[in-house]
Amino acid sequence: MVSSIQSLKGLLLVLNAVFPTAQASLTREPRELGRRDLMGTSNVFLGDRTGAPKNMASGILLGLPLNGSQIPDHFLSDVGFNNMRSGGSQLGEPRRGWTRGYEEFLGRYESLKSDYEVTRRHGGGFQIMIHDMWGIDSYGSPEEVPYPGDNGSYEDFDNFLDTFFELLIQDDMVENVRWDIWNEPDNGEFGNRGLDRYLEYYVHAHQKIVRDFPGGKTTGPSFGRLPNFAGDMINWFTEWASRVAENDAVPDQVSLHFLYGDGDLTTSINQFVGILSDAGINYNGTWNIQEYGNPDQQIPSTAVWNIAQLERHNAPGLRANWRGGLELHDLLANLLGKEGSGDQYDINDVDYWPAREYPVYVYYHQEMTGERVRTEMTEDTLADSFAVIDDSARRVRILAGSRPQTGTWNIQVNDLDTVGLAESGNIMVRTIKFNTAPGIYDRVADPEDLGTSTVAYQQNNVILEVRQTDPAEAWAFELEF
Ligand SMILES: *[C@@H]1O[C@H](CO)[C@@H](O)[C@H](O)[C@H]1NC(C)=O
Ligand SMILES: *[C@@H]1O[C@H](CO)[C@@H](O)[C@H](O)[C@H]1NC(C)=O
Ligand SMILES: *[C@@H]1O[C@H](CO)[C@@H](O)[C@H](O)[C@H]1NC(C)=O
Repeated sequence: MVSSIQSLKGLLLVLNAVFPTAQASLTREPRELGRRDLMGTSNVFLGDRTGAPKNMASGILLGLPLNGSQIPDHFLSDVGFNNMRSGGSQLGEPRRGWTRGYEEFLGRYESLKSDYEVTRRHGGGFQIMIHDMWGIDSYGSPEEVPYPGDNGSYEDFDNFLDTFFELLIQDDMVENVRWDIWNEPDNGEFGNRGLDRYLEYYVHAHQKIVRDFPGGKTTGPSFGRLPNFAGDMINWFTEWASRVAENDAVPDQVSLHFLYGDGDLTTSINQFVGILSDAGINYNGTWNIQEYGNPDQQIPSTAVWNIAQLERHNAPGLRANWRGGLELHDLLANLLGKEGSGDQYDINDVDYWPAREYPVYVYYHQEMTGERVRTEMTEDTLADSFAVIDDSARRVRILAGSRPQTGTWNIQVNDLDTVGLAESGNIMVRTIKFNTAPGIYDRVADPEDLGTSTVAYQQNNVILEVRQTDPAEAWAFELEF
């Protein structure tokens, strides 16, 4: 998302549209899902350790105010914030980007710079959205926006990047920078310029960044679609793959946007690997999940589900941000709320509180310590778990969450002997419930400790039942060994 034009604030955001004309061709409309009951089993394999936790899901798309001290820093450190994608998106005059003139580029640069400073204060990685620094959201229609390569010329675009590089070098903003070549070019077909122009642009931009920016690293293609939902737009994936293979322009990190109300990350990545492989690219790098979280699924249950999906693939993920205008630059992509939000949005209100998903991320960062272990989602993909073994605390901790559905599903914790437990017996399990709140801006109640119970088990595994009566709540289980 990010680039909806300002006059349509709030209307198109959920459609991830760049321009109104793109709306009809979008596949992002929330899909009509038949109400399915949660069922089945997510497996946790204590015998298969997968390395130290790194908070793969603690990234945020925008969500920081121009004043980098406005959100008290503890809100960021408490959730292990470590990744940002920025570019002055949707800021109005005098911050509309390069295509509105140098001063307006500097306006967006100021926002970018502040985001960079906050991010580096927290040791995070930083992705620069070229399309918004260029300023495609600052016009009423795609035809009005000058696009790189219009009239067969990249002169203005190269001038823009040269100017940008110079500023970043001068301000010591080179470390941990990755260039996001263009956001969701498939939505709106690259400003109606089409696939061929996009591919030409992509290679041009990649080559210039790698050549002219110190240690230049790129990420792309940042399509709005996932390959397994691309339908007749799949040629955007396949032709992009062939073109970058032919031109030695494979990005440092392949990016994708994981925003659908359905599907799973393993399927999407596997399909993308197949497309790359068909083009002769043996990609074994990081999957950069630049935006995750369907708009109506930014709730505790699906936050955990997304965390589990990202951790499985060691894929750094950034929370999608479905707000608009100035609010897009506040509230940490709805991890926080405040009185002055929504229709009452007040940039100067600094009385922040935890919103619905915040406590999940606090637990994720602060309690999911030790070593990660491999897990499997339920066969229907709707429920998932993320688990760690903390040998010093003698605890297995499991976060359990699902797509927003109700039903009863199981978590089967296997290989109990590998943490020194007998093959059968009783195990103490503490259950914690993550509450939700009615609205996206509302203050959420603290997690509830539901106490410890004894669960009998045999055959070296224990089964925990998750009874999901509220589709938005999430759970943590702590097993003593
Ligand atoms: C930035 O926000 C902090 C915290 O609210 C405030 O103390 C400070 O004055 C603000 N800075 C500016 C330049 O407004
Ligand atoms: C392309 O040409 C048109 C018509 O001459 C002009 O208005 C426009 O500014 C040019 N675009 C670029 C990016 O140079
Ligand atoms: C990825 O592939 C490249 C080229 O085939 C190889 O040099 C590199 O060691 C691989 N990296 C990992 C982490 O497997």
